[in-house]
Amino acid sequence: MSILAVNEVSYTYKSKYQTVEAVSNVSCTFEAGKMYAIVGHSGSGKSTLLSLLAGLDLPTKGEIYVEDQPMSKLDRDRYRRETASVVYQSFNLFPLLTALENVAYPMELRGIAAKEARKTGKELIASVGLEERICNQLPLMMSGGQQQRVAVARALASGGKILLADEPTGNLDTVNGEIVVEILKSLSHERGYTVIIITHDMGVAEQADIVYTMKDGKITV
Ligand SMILES: Nc1ncnc2c1ncn2[C@@H]1O[C@H](COP(=O)(O)OP(=O)(O)OP(=O)(O)O)[C@@H](O)[C@H]1O
Ligand SMILES: [Mg+2]
Repeated sequence: MSILAVNEVSYTYKSKYQTVEAVSNVSCTFEAGKMYAIVGHSGSGKSTLLSLLAGLDLPTKGEIYVEDQPMSKLDRDRYRRETASVVYQSFNLFPLLTALENVAYPMELRGIAAKEARKTGKELIASVGLEERICNQLPLMMSGGQQQRVAVARALASGGKILLADEPTGNLDTVNGEIVVEILKSLSHERGYTVIIITHDMGVAEQADIVYTMKDGKITV
C-alpha cells in the first residue's frame, strides 16, 4: 500500500485577473522507506504539489489518499501536526526560541509534557549530528547547515512518518547540502520515513530512489 497516492489531482489558482492551473491532472504514489525527488523548471508546479501533499490546501480536482483515506475527509490540522512535516529552503525556525525549544515545540503542541519534550528534543538534535551545545543557541547564532538540521529535527518531532522538503539544500553550501541529504536518506532507508524533496540540484536528485519530473503542472516520465 502506498502511504500517499495522488489521484488525478489538479490545483488552480484563481484571481480576479487570471486563472493558473499550477498542477494539472497529476497521478503518482509514494511509499514508505523511499526517498523521492521532484524536479522541474521554475513555475512547473512543484511547490504547489508539495503544499497539497502537506495538507495545506485541497486539490481543486481529484483526491490525495493518505494510507487509503481521502485527504478531503481527514482532519487536516491533525494530519499536519502528526503525520506530515515540511522543511523549507529558508529553515523557518522560530527566531526567538533556542534550538531545543524549536524542536520541543511540536511535541508540546501534541500535549507531551515539557520535560519529556525536552528529553526527546535533545535526542533528536543528537540524531541529526549536532552537538549538545547547539540546544541552547538561537537560530541567529547557528550556521545555515546547523539551522537546517535543527529544522529536520523539528520535523521529526511531529512524530509523523512523512517528511516533505522544498529545496532543503537551496541555501546551503555543497558540504552542508550533502550532510542534510544524507540525513534525509537515512531517515527513509533506515527508519521508514517517506521523504519527498523538491530540488533544482541534480546531485540531490541522484540520491533519490525515484525522481518525478514536473513540466507545466504535469508529471512527465
Ligand atoms: N499564490 C499563488 N497565486 C497565483 N498563482 C500562483 C501562486 N503560487 C504559485 N502560482 C503559480 O502556479 C504555478 C506553479 O507555481 P509553483 O510555485 O508551484 O512552481 P515551482 O515549480 O515550485 O517553481 P519554483 O521552482 O520557482 O519554486 C506558477 O505559474 C505560479 O506562478
Ligand atoms: Mg517552488
